[in-house]
Amino acid sequence: MTAPVEGQLEPELDRAVAVLRAGGLVAFPTETVYGLGADAGNEAAVRRIFEVKGRPADHPLIVHLAAAEQLAEWASTVPATARTLADELWPGPLTLLLDRGPTVLDAVTGRRPTVGVRVPDQPLALELLGAFGSGVAAPSANRFGKVSPTTAEHVRGDLGADVDLVLDGGPCAVGVESTIVDCTTDPPTLLRPGGVSVDRLVEVLGSPVRTEAVGPSRAPGMMASHYAPRCRVEVVDEVAMAEVRVALLRSQGLAVDLLAPSVGVDDYARHLYGWLRDADDRGLDVLVAVAPAGDGLGLAVRDRLSKAAAPRPTVEDAG
Ligand code: TXA
Ligand code: MG
Repeated sequence: MTAPVEGQLEPELDRAVAVLRAGGLVAFPTETVYGLGADAGNEAAVRRIFEVKGRPADHPLIVHLAAAEQLAEWASTVPATARTLADELWPGPLTLLLDRGPTVLDAVTGRRPTVGVRVPDQPLALELLGAFGSGVAAPSANRFGKVSPTTAEHVRGDLGADVDLVLDGGPCAVGVESTIVDCTTDPPTLLRPGGVSVDRLVEVLGSPVRTEAVGPSRAPGMMASHYAPRCRVEVVDEVAMAEVRVALLRSQGLAVDLLAPSVGVDDYARHLYGWLRDADDRGLDVLVAVAPAGDGLGLAVRDRLSKAAAPRPTVEDAG
């Protein structure tokens, strides 16, 4: 399905705001992935996100805002580094962790002392957030641990009737999640590589960023296995190779599908989750992914591929 043309969107937006006000769930497009949104000030609504996703309650949610001016309602302090990053990079694929304000719900922060906030760079998202007028808590609109959705069809296919309304803004432009930067440390700490590169963060700040915290278990929700399709994923990490030649040995029937043409890193990020889903839709058993090089989006794609390839969780820590 294509995105609705302007004009048809108004009633949809009105309905979406009404659903949020009534404590319902609205899936909405961002530039990174689709979010599963609820009124961040409504505890019952936020709890429903966790139920629908099957996500453990201690995994905090990002609060989406229409503009940086709303930060004071969510953060108790906004350090100069956060102010600079927000001024330069919002709207954009960047989440800032800040000391939480006194009224922020435990259900949103997973009882942590910090809150994650971002202003997404997607026109429909900004209209929704502007019309709603307050924060919308939203994780990616997929079941816990599975592949994030980058189209409205992905969301409908994953969540079905569990979501009250899906706003269709077409395919996401970036395709991988936001960069998460903890601004409560000095210097700020990168927790998840994403749509904004480390080089860009350093350039905007004019000072270094800590990167050693990247990896599983730094924050709840950053487990080793994540973004996982059903099929097994093998990552070929020879990032410097100009050409990859693959040999396959077999004793029995073998069918090989070429899922994707050779693409630049922007397209790799944009289509990554769609390709992982495609692998499952075709019933493939093994997906061999050659990781892209580079420190920008390449880093984010390699992070997601390594998590898609990681050993799958057991039932107790599933997701
Ligand atoms: O691009 C994105 O960030 C997308 C779109 C929808 O905005 N959202 C997204 O949300 O990826 P989610 O919930 O799938 O991932 C958010 C990550 C989780 O790993 C969570 O643990 C971490 O952010 N996070 C959020 N608030 C946090 C906090 N206060 N402290 C530590 N980690 C936090
Ligand atoms: Mg997610």
